[in-house]
Amino acid sequence: MDNTESLATPVQKRLEGKVALVTGGSSGIGECTARLYVQHGAKVVIADIQDELGHAVIESLGKSNALYIHCDVTNEEHIIQAVDTAVLTYGKLDIMFNNAGVSGPNKPRILDNLKSDFEHVLAVNVTGVFLGMKHAARVMVPARSGCILSTSSLCSNLGGAASHAYTASKHAMLGLTKNLAVELGQFGIRVNCVSPYGVATPLAKSPVGVEKDEDFEFIMNALGNLKGVTLRTDDVANAALFLACDEAKYISGQNLFIDGGFGIVNSAFKIFQYPEDPA
Ligand SMILES: NC(=O)c1ccc[n+]([C@@H]2O[C@H](COP(=O)([O-])OP(=O)(O)OC[C@H]3O[C@@H](n4cnc5c(N)ncnc54)[C@H](O)[C@@H]3O)[C@@H](O)[C@H]2O)c1
Repeated sequence: MDNTESLATPVQKRLEGKVALVTGGSSGIGECTARLYVQHGAKVVIADIQDELGHAVIESLGKSNALYIHCDVTNEEHIIQAVDTAVLTYGKLDIMFNNAGVSGPNKPRILDNLKSDFEHVLAVNVTGVFLGMKHAARVMVPARSGCILSTSSLCSNLGGAASHAYTASKHAMLGLTKNLAVELGQFGIRVNCVSPYGVATPLAKSPVGVEKDEDFEFIMNALGNLKGVTLRTDDVANAALFLACDEAKYISGQNLFIDGGFGIVNSAFKIFQYPEDPA
């Protein structure tokens, strides 16, 4: 879904001269972030397995601003090629956005979960991020600069909001983010992740069993803490822009929640909360 129409035309380009690689950039949060990065002056490489969608995104971004590469993030050779293509084409890699992900089947009972499904979710959401981080570090360390971002989730901190595999994978990604921020700080490389609440994308709608964005958003808004607003891909893209640009130059090792406060609500203690707005 392209939500960038709602993004204001940038007064100041915040990523002028930067080069970014966005995995999972053919759809959803990755696509929206790739569009925003280009609007802010970056050259962008989109790496995904949905080739047709990816090429269509490049067409609309303009071939002088962005390119698409087929890349399965679980395949180290593919990741090497994606990183090397960014460097060969645009001269360097400033921003690595490890955003590709899968939700896996939604089976709440552990007894119903297959080992193969569990391993697939971990392969994409954890091994894929590890490989993206590793090969970004390979080119960023010699340059003594760079920014590594990943899309984690509300489930990096909460249980019971998604499948066991997904929750485990997003916790693991946060661990990787913290560990790598410690290792790469000495080279001036920042490592962070963003953690959204539910956004209407194919990945999120499928386990909930709805097709229309409006239906998904209705459910999320009813369950959410912050009322009167709907979380969209551009909200996550804006957070990914902030963390990637120089305004965030001293922010590293952080997990930025984009959840309207959902993750800090203790719903069991209703007695201490303001009564619901009767309107
Ligand atoms: N939508 C949400 O509610 C939500 C909430 C929290 C976190 N996230 C995270 O956001 C990220 C982006 O997901 P989205 O919601 O935009 O969904 P999406 O389905 O729109 O996009 C996911 C993209 O990842 C790509 N992908 C999947 N497996 C891949 C692989 N092996 N190699 C390369 N690309 C692969 C898909 O082709 C797709 O383009 C994911 O990491 C997801 O876990 C989403």
